[in-house]
Amino acid sequence: MPSRKPLTVTTKHLLKPYLDSCRERVEQALEQHLPAAGIQPGKLHQAMRHATLNGGKRVRPLLVYATGRALGVPAEQLNGAACAVELIHAYSLVHDDLPAMDDDELRRGQPTCHIAFDEATAILTGDALQTLAFKVLCKEGELAIPPSTRLQMIEELANASGSRGMAGGQALDLEAVGQQIDLTQLETMHIHKTGALIRASVRLGALSATTATREQIQSLDHYAKCIGLAFQVQDDILDIEGETEVIGKTKGKDSANDKQRTPPSWAWKPPRRCPSGSTMRHWSAWTPWMNAPIRYAGSPTT
Ligand code: IPE
Ligand code: IPE
Ligand code: MG
Ligand code: MG
Ligand code: MG
Repeated sequence: MPSRKPLTVTTKHLLKPYLDSCRERVEQALEQHLPAAGIQPGKLHQAMRHATLNGGKRVRPLLVYATGRALGVPAEQLNGAACAVELIHAYSLVHDDLPAMDDDELRRGQPTCHIAFDEATAILTGDALQTLAFKVLCKEGELAIPPSTRLQMIEELANASGSRGMAGGQALDLEAVGQQIDLTQLETMHIHKTGALIRASVRLGALSATTATREQIQSLDHYAKCIGLAFQVQDDILDIEGETEVIGKTKGKDSANDKQRTPPSWAWKPPRRCPSGSTMRHWSAWTPWMNAPIRYAGSPTT
């Protein structure tokens, strides 16, 4: 498989304003959809805002916007889907950090939800963010699609979030604590716990375009599966190689939690070729800026 050239400085320079505009757009929309902190129950609403408006790369919304843009959908029609995937993602992080799961105290350079508030509030925060995601997708007024397509989007997000998607992948992750797992098991876990929501982000963007052809949706879906898998591989590399103040979460937590998540040796350095027979052969579809970490802990973002 041919190796891909890394993005040039010029490409990065051209992409940055677009990435920034997507981030600003979704943050404004999230701000509007989240209940104000002053509305009762205030503690729960504060915790929901803490968990959602605390930074983050906003990669999933970016994928919604970029897919929609490629298919000619105006950005304002994509805000609902972008918010919905980010709300599910925020909920997944709140629950992922709980003591019963990864037991993390730092997220995006700030105390995790159960540390900033308490464990019961963090559980309810996850629940409430999840249901808000579906409400947004149901009610979003700008979405110019027939009701049947909206239902399809809701089903897509539900599948990606549930036991056959993210939650199922998280279950596999917990089952594998203390176990040696092979590459196929590692890929299955990644594809579900992280890949499913990334894939849904692209698919929701595509469904927002009433004119998208089957072939276009299939190609986008293939791309989304590849980057979803690669995204978690890179997250696992960052857990080993990253610095806490850059990744905004405690370095080395996977091994501290007795999780064998080390990606295979070929995944570490370009050209990142892998033996055939593995779905990770699609690694090279990954674009290096996707989970380039933000610098947290009060440092300027990079
Ligand atoms: C972290 O996701 C959890 C994974 C699924 C790997 P991100 O790396 O997208 O986290 P934020 O949203 O930027 O904090
Ligand atoms: C989390 O994977 C995937 C989710 C569904 C939230 P990780 O446990 O590796 O994510 P981080 O490293 O805590 O962000
Ligand atoms: Mg986890
Ligand atoms: Mg975790
Ligand atoms: Mg991780």
